[in-house]
Amino acid sequence: MAQKTKPILIRNGTVVNSDGSRISDVLIVDGKIADVKPKIADVPPGAKIVDASGMYVIPGGIDAHTHLDFEFMGTVTKDDFYHGTKAGVVGGTTMVIDFVIPKKGQSLIEALEYWHKKAAGKAVADYAFHMAVTWWGPQVQKEMEILCKERGINSFKMFMAYKDSMMIDDADLYNAFKKCESLGALPMVHAENGHIIKENSSLLLEAGTTGPEGHQLSRPENVEAEATNRACVIAENVGSSLYVVHVMSGSAAETIATRRKAGNRRIFGEALAAGLGTTFPKGADYSTLAAHVMGPPIREDPATPGQLMAHLVSDGLSTTGTDNCTFDKCQKEMGKGDFTKIPNGVNGLEDRMSIIWNNGVRTGVMTPERFVAVTSANAAKIFNIYPKKGAVLAGSDADLVVWNPDRKRTISATTHHHNNDFNIFEGKTVVGNAEVVIVRGRICFEASTGVVNVEKGWGEFVPTPCYSPEVFPKQK
Ligand code: URP
Ligand code: ZN
Ligand code: ZN
Ligand code: ZN
Repeated sequence: MAQKTKPILIRNGTVVNSDGSRISDVLIVDGKIADVKPKIADVPPGAKIVDASGMYVIPGGIDAHTHLDFEFMGTVTKDDFYHGTKAGVVGGTTMVIDFVIPKKGQSLIEALEYWHKKAAGKAVADYAFHMAVTWWGPQVQKEMEILCKERGINSFKMFMAYKDSMMIDDADLYNAFKKCESLGALPMVHAENGHIIKENSSLLLEAGTTGPEGHQLSRPENVEAEATNRACVIAENVGSSLYVVHVMSGSAAETIATRRKAGNRRIFGEALAAGLGTTFPKGADYSTLAAHVMGPPIREDPATPGQLMAHLVSDGLSTTGTDNCTFDKCQKEMGKGDFTKIPNGVNGLEDRMSIIWNNGVRTGVMTPERFVAVTSANAAKIFNIYPKKGAVLAGSDADLVVWNPDRKRTISATTHHHNNDFNIFEGKTVVGNAEVVIVRGRICFEASTGVVNVEKGWGEFVPTPCYSPEVFPKQK
């Protein structure tokens, strides 16, 4: 049971929801939003007053794509549930949805219990889980049912890449999508062609291309676009919904956007802070290149971030996450001499919100309302936790950010709150940052003082019920 918190009154901010904005006060009592209206007069005794004049009051960000305390490619991520959620909170993200990833043959329920142990007592902000399906059979199907009906899981990620470890084939994808549809759950895919990546990688290594540039060359854009299209075709044939995680190229985004424009509103695409905020630094030294290695790759093409942003603005893509999966310089050294052994993953949790504001809202292409949609509300709707999360409404959880459109920050690994020695956005100055961050009624960060006052274990597990009205509109 969460501890009691002091009431808070946020005065005079522009409250932004995904469907509109107005200047209001926001009263928080016992971790929930008690009231949202202009000039709240009835203030509980002892309430802390936060002046938000000239600033926005937005729902805390939801990052629906993280890998915290994840054992992957022979090592474990630097950010665990404490460091990852803390970095997120400082950047205005107050909830994560992390991926439970069982080994091939492992019980899904056993893996979920393991992930609960990783998060409980460590997370400083709320969390939920997606489940990965890395193998197929009657036990997996039975466990998917239990997870949906009893364990608060409504989304399952399948890998079309990582051949020989997590990848499953098209027939299993078809059956997994079908199972999700029958359970009221959402199938998700990592869309890259694992066979092509493996063959390309062998040829590159044989020819002497062993450095991180080989990672890029082994998985060009069409490898992502092909798998994205294939996943869409499978979903269309099954008659299921589909959520494509980490869309990293214009062509993959186009594949999804075309279907949404043609009327299939059950296909969703997720952009990442990495894809929106940077490009692959061709020609840099080994450690810089290796630090940027993730799958699908951060593209070299300078047009890509703008293309992804345009799709987010026009509703071709629906959400933003980070795929936060951090490894330090020494872990990235594991791939020296063989790029296939570089642990795949980058940071993003702390910087996602300010990157999107800076590159989207500040440049004038994205409205503050769309910013809220793509940073929290749409994820809350898709994963069926709206309006508990993703909204500034009476009754919602008080996960709130007072957002200062003028606060400037230069991103650096020397000042960030990740447990890592590298930041892919190093040196970038972002205008638009969190001023005050409130997590279920608790003030956890104030930029004016720089004080981070998070509490280990403050984060609670949030079950995600099946049959999200956003994903299953007919069952509304
Ligand atoms: O490179 C990545 N994306 N690492 C995390 C695992 C995944 O595929 O999401
Ligand atoms: Zn992935
Ligand atoms: Zn991921
Ligand atoms: Zn190390």
